[in-house]
Order: sequence, then C-alpha cells, then structure tokens
Amino acid sequence: MQIVSKILSLQAVKLLPILEIFENKNTLGNYLDTLRSRNHTIGFVPTMGALHDGHASLVIQGLKTNDFVVVSIFVNPTQFDNANDLVKYPRTLEKDVTLLSKISADNIAVYAPSVEDIYGSDVVASGFDFDGLEQEMEGQYRTGHFDGVGTIVKRLFEIVKPNHAYFGEKDFQQLMIIKKLVEKHEMPVNVIGCDILREQDGLAMSSRNMRLKPAYRAAAPLIYQTLKTAKIKFGTKSAKKVTEWVNEQFANHELLELEYFVIADSETLKTINRKSNKKTYRAFIAVYADDIRLIDNIALN
Ligand code: PAJ
Repeated sequence: MQIVSKILSLQAVKLLPILEIFENKNTLGNYLDTLRSRNHTIGFVPTMGALHDGHASLVIQGLKTNDFVVVSIFVNPTQFDNANDLVKYPRTLEKDVTLLSKISADNIAVYAPSVEDIYGSDVVASGFDFDGLEQEMEGQYRTGHFDGVGTIVKRLFEIVKPNHAYFGEKDFQQLMIIKKLVEKHEMPVNVIGCDILREQDGLAMSSRNMRLKPAYRAAAPLIYQTLKTAKIKFGTKSAKKVTEWVNEQFANHELLELEYFVIADSETLKTINRKSNKKTYRAFIAVYADDIRLIDNIALN
C-alpha cells in the first residue's frame, strides 16, 4: 500500500510523531498480545476512514476507558450494495493518520488492512440472523448490507480482541445489530454506543458529506431540522400523522429525495402502530442528496 509506505517513511525521518500503522493482522495481533501481557486494556473503533470529528469522538471516548485504542480503517467491500458508492467512497489514509496522531501518537494504533488480509481470495459475506433487526430500514433498502457489516465486524473483533468497542448512534441500527452479534456469538467485548456529532448547522457528520456539491450541502441541514420538529410533533400527534408531515416536507423538494422516514421502537426497530408510555421510540431517516445517501436519527422520548 503506497500511502502507508509514504507515512512510514515520514515517521522514519521523524517529521511527524506518527502512531503505529499495521497492514497485517498477524503483526497487529502479536503487538496487541504484548500489550495484553502487560495487562493493558484495549478499546476498538472500527471505521471506513475519511475520518471526521465524529470518529475522533469515539477514539477519545475509548482512550478514557482503555490503555490503548485500535482504529481500523477499511472500506469493506461486502457491505456495499451499490458498486458506485464503493468506488466513490473517500479514501484519505494519510489525513486520517494525521488526525489520529494529533489525538495521541502513543496509545493509538491504526489497522489499515488490504482486502486480502481480511478476506483472502474469498470476498463474500456470511449470512447472519440478528433476530429481525436486520430486516428493518437499512436492511430493506440496502440488500445484504448487514451481512457485510456482521462479517467484517466479527472478523475485526476476532483479530483485535478488544475489551470495549465503540460505535456511533449515527448508525443506530448498526449499533443494535453489533450488540446482537456479540450476544449471539458470545463474544467477550463490551459494545458502547456514542452520541452523534453534528456540524454547526445540525447536519450529522459523515464521511460522505465531503462529496456533497455546495447546493446539496446547503440543503442537507433540513434533514436534522425535520427530525427535531418531528420529535416535538410526536409529543401530541400519532406516528402516522408525524410520518405524513415529514413526507410533505420532502415532497417536491428540488434537491433532497426522501427514501424513508420511520418511527420505530428503539429496542426492536419495528415501525410502531400505537404509542405506549412504557416504550422508547426513535425516528429514522434516509435521504438522497444527488447520488449521496445520508442517514440520521433522533430519540423521541
Ligand atoms: P464508518 O461509517 O466509518 O463509521 C465508523 C463509526 O463512526 C461508526 O460506529 C459510526 O456510527 C461512527 N460515526 C460516524 N459518523 C458519526 C457521527 N457523526 N457521530 C458519531 N459517530 C459517528 O460504520 C462504519 O464505518 C462501518 O459500517 C464499520 C462499522 C466500520 C464496518 O465496516
């Protein structure tokens, strides 16, 4: 990997205090075994790179609880249902390593493997049953996505063997699915959900935001504004009425196309029919801005 060699050469001449970068799972595994033999705890933040402050917040949270944090940077081919999205996914390893080095060069390591290091020659996802969580929302619109996520996260957990792993509520359904993965496979890792970091105008930070053309970027804050208003409306109105209202906000919008808006039970992720004051609910949204798909969600009670 050319970029890694460039970063390593910068490190060699000490131009930058740069953290350790691993491309090979066995080398990483040996390094982490040594840390564990010294009773160090290990936090883990899996990412697909193009890191922003949302990712950084997970790393910072990891450093508070663990002696050492591993950040994986791997654009996982098996979770992309759209070939174009995979090709266009931003890859900015050099910048990512600089961002992480600024947080700490001493107790963070990056694992940036090749597809082969993870998959060998068999780049396919395994099938998972997440008790129906995988069939809602993203599961309906992105065929096979959660099989790809389950495959990569399980493999990464087996390589890193972390004590704690950090996932953003930005991808709330993914977070619930990873908790289910760990429970079903009895994996000894504590999965921690972390708050959504937003731009000043409310747009949830995302690696995909950097691909938005200016007009689409200017329109995108409507997504979170709509979620916030939906939350207020949900205090007095039915889920059906709130959903209708959200659909009206995006009907005929020149730039943003609503893919789905769903009010769901926060535990089962099933769309609700009737409110109960014993349950908690969340609103979930997916919107296309040009060919870029943006998702967000909000707790309703
Ligand atoms: P990626 O989209 O890079 O996200 C990595 C982690 O950062 C996820 O847990 C995601 O929820 C979190 N994250 C992203 N944007 C955030 C924000 N604005 N605030 C807080 N956290 C945020 O999610 C993936 O990668 C992949 O599916 C992965 C789990 C790495 C498997 O390939």
